[in-house]
Amino acid sequence: MAGGRQRLAGALAALLLVGGASVASAQDDVGSAARGKTLWEARCSVCHAVDSNSVGPMHRGVVGRMSGSVPGYDYSPALAHSHFIWTKAKLLKWLTNPEALVPGQKMNYEVDNPQDRADIVAYLATLTVPKEPAPAK
Ligand code: HEC
Repeated sequence: MAGGRQRLAGALAALLLVGGASVASAQDDVGSAARGKTLWEARCSVCHAVDSNSVGPMHRGVVGRMSGSVPGYDYSPALAHSHFIWTKAKLLKWLTNPEALVPGQKMNYEVDNPQDRADIVAYLATLTVPKEPAPAK
């Protein structure tokens, strides 16, 4: 019955809110950006900043960006010449094994846990670039 289902869905949503944690499945394309932010700070911020280049290139806008394309960052020739768009799927592959995706790259850091990867990529997807000043409302 549709009504029963809706009530069930409502109860489930309430439970999730109370729990304060996402119950994301281990599927690669589902992740919790909130958990991903914590993971990013613990693991990626050693070498990456959101808005400036560091040991690695800046991360803002990475989803949808051309690989190896941040101005002023000294990429490995391999990544600089790779020319693909960073989608969530590509990022999951990169974090699984950067060398398998782009042989000759110089990141050499992996995230072994699939849920951790999904959460980190969900967080990266929130780092969007404002295209133009927000229109007045
Ligand atoms: C030990 C330092 C180090 C750590 C830790 C690290 N990275 Fe990197 N990352 C790099 C370097 C260096 C590059 C540039 C690779 C190249 O030029 O071949 C890079 C490149 C990248 C790129 C390619 C960006 C572009 O502009 O093409 C992505 C995406 C990325 N890292 C994501 C991550 C994420 C997410 C984490 C955390 C899970 C992480 N990195 C952790 C050093 C690191």
